[in-house]
Amino acid sequence: MRWSSVAIALASAKSFAVALDPVSTSGNKFFNKDGSQFFIKGVAYQLRPLDPLIDTDQCKRDAKLMAELGANTIRVYHVDPSGDHDGCMKAFDDAGIYVLADLDTFDTYIIPENNYWNKTKFDRYAEVMDAFQQYDNILGFFVGNENIATKDDSPTAPYLKAAARDMKAYRDAQGYREIPIGYSAADILQLRPMLQDYLTCGGNSSETVDFFSLNSYSWCDPSTYTESTYDQLEAYAKNFPVPIFLSETGCIVPGPRAWDDQDAIFGPQMVNDWSGAIIYEWIQEENSYGIITYAPAGQPAGPDVEGGFLRKGTPTPKEPDFSALKSKWATNTPEGVHKSNYNPSRVSTRACPTSTAGGWWQVNGDVQLPTLGQILAVNTKTRSANVATETETVGPTATDGSVETTADSTASITAPPSSVTPGSSSSTTSGPASASTTSGGSMDKRITAFGAGVVGAVLAIAILL
Ligand SMILES: *[C@@H]1O[C@H](CO)[C@@H](O)[C@H](O)[C@H]1NC(C)=O
Ligand SMILES: *[C@@H]1O[C@H](CO)[C@@H](O)[C@H](O)[C@H]1NC(C)=O
Repeated sequence: MRWSSVAIALASAKSFAVALDPVSTSGNKFFNKDGSQFFIKGVAYQLRPLDPLIDTDQCKRDAKLMAELGANTIRVYHVDPSGDHDGCMKAFDDAGIYVLADLDTFDTYIIPENNYWNKTKFDRYAEVMDAFQQYDNILGFFVGNENIATKDDSPTAPYLKAAARDMKAYRDAQGYREIPIGYSAADILQLRPMLQDYLTCGGNSSETVDFFSLNSYSWCDPSTYTESTYDQLEAYAKNFPVPIFLSETGCIVPGPRAWDDQDAIFGPQMVNDWSGAIIYEWIQEENSYGIITYAPAGQPAGPDVEGGFLRKGTPTPKEPDFSALKSKWATNTPEGVHKSNYNPSRVSTRACPTSTAGGWWQVNGDVQLPTLGQILAVNTKTRSANVATETETVGPTATDGSVETTADSTASITAPPSSVTPGSSSSTTSGPASASTTSGGSMDKRITAFGAGVVGAVLAIAILL
C-alpha cells in the first residue's frame, strides 16, 4: 500500500479513535480507566538497535497492521531519550496500542559480571522515564531484561530491586503518574520461582516491583498445558501479588506457530492470574521469529538493511504465523473482572526465598538492598567453568530452536531459548556484538538457545553422576 493511502486510511480511522487512557494496576491486575480489566496482547518491536520510536512514518505503517492483528501493546527494548518520540507514540496511541519500554539500554544494563547500581545508571534510567512519562499510552517500564539467567547470576537480584526502588521513588518525587515499573525474566526453572518471589517479597511496596514478566519459549506447537509446563508457570503465579504476564513467547520449533498457548493464557486455566502475553517478534530477521517482513531476506547492504533484512517499509504479514495469531487473538477476548468487583487484598504475599548451599539462588532472604552506589559484600558472580563456556563458546552457527526440542529431556530447564541474556549481558552491553545486534532479543536469542542447551547438558550429566 502506498503511503498516501495509508494516511487516508489512518485519517478515516481516526474519527473513531479516542486517545488511550492510562492503565493502572491493582493487586495482580491491570485496569483501564473505566474499571474494565486490561489484558496485554503484545508484540516485541525493535526494528533497529537504538530506538525504533523516532521514525513516525514507519510507526504509522506498523501500528496500522498491528491494529489489524489485534495487538494492543508493543514492547521496546532500547530507546534513546534524546530522540523525539511524539510522532511514534501518537501513531501507536491512535491505533489503540500501549508501549512497554526498558529504562536500561546497552551501556546501562545491570550485569552479573559487574554488579553495580549507581548515580550514573540512575540518571540514565531517569532520562528515559522523563522522556516517556508524558505519554498516556506508556504502560510500564522495565528495570531489566533477563539480567539473571544462569547459575551464579542471582547476586544481581538486589541491584534490580534497588533499581526498581529508586526509579519508583524518582517517579513519585517528580509527580509523574504511577507508571508501573517491573522486570522481565528469563524462564529458567532453577531461578524463576525464587526470583519472582524475591522481587515481590519483604512487605514494603516502595521496594518491590509493580509487575513481573517472563520470557518463555516452553510452549512449542503442537503442545498442551501440561506438556509445555505452563501448568507450572500457573502454579507459581497463583494469586501473585502484582500483575504477571509473558513478556516474550512464540517458540518456532518445529513451526509454523499455531499460538495455542494464547488459549491457555486467556482461557480458564490461567486468565485469573495472568495479564496476557507479548509475542516475539514483529520483524523477520536472522533469528526467524518475525511475523512480518519489509522485503525478502538477502537484501544488499544499505542504510536500512542489517543482516540482509530491510528494516523499513510497508510490513507484509509472514504467513501462516501472522493470520494464525490474528484469529487466535480474535477468539480470545476475556472480560476478566471489573475493578469495582475486585478485592486486591486477596493476593498472596511471598516469603523472601532463602539461599541453598551450592544452589542457583544465592540471595539469602530479605537482604538489605544496596543504597545508590553501594557494592554489596557478596557480589559479582564467580562463574564455574561449565557455565562460562555457555556464553563464550557460542558462535553464530547455533540456530534457534535446534535445542528447544531438548526441553523435555532436560527437566531442569523449562524454557530453552531464554532470549536476550546472557547473550544480551554480553552482546547488549558493548562492542562488536551489539553493533550487529538489531533487537534486544534477536541475536541474543540464538546465543541463549544454544547456551541453555549447554546448561541442560551439564545438568543432565550432573544428575547422571
Ligand atoms: C558508577 O560506576 C561506574 C563503573 O564503576 C563508574 O564509571 C561511574 O563513574 C560511577 N558513577 C558515579 C556517579 O560514581
Ligand atoms: C520502605 O522502603 C522505603 C524505600 O527503601 C524506605 O524509605 C521506607 O523506610 C521503608 N518503610 C518501612 C516501613 O520500612
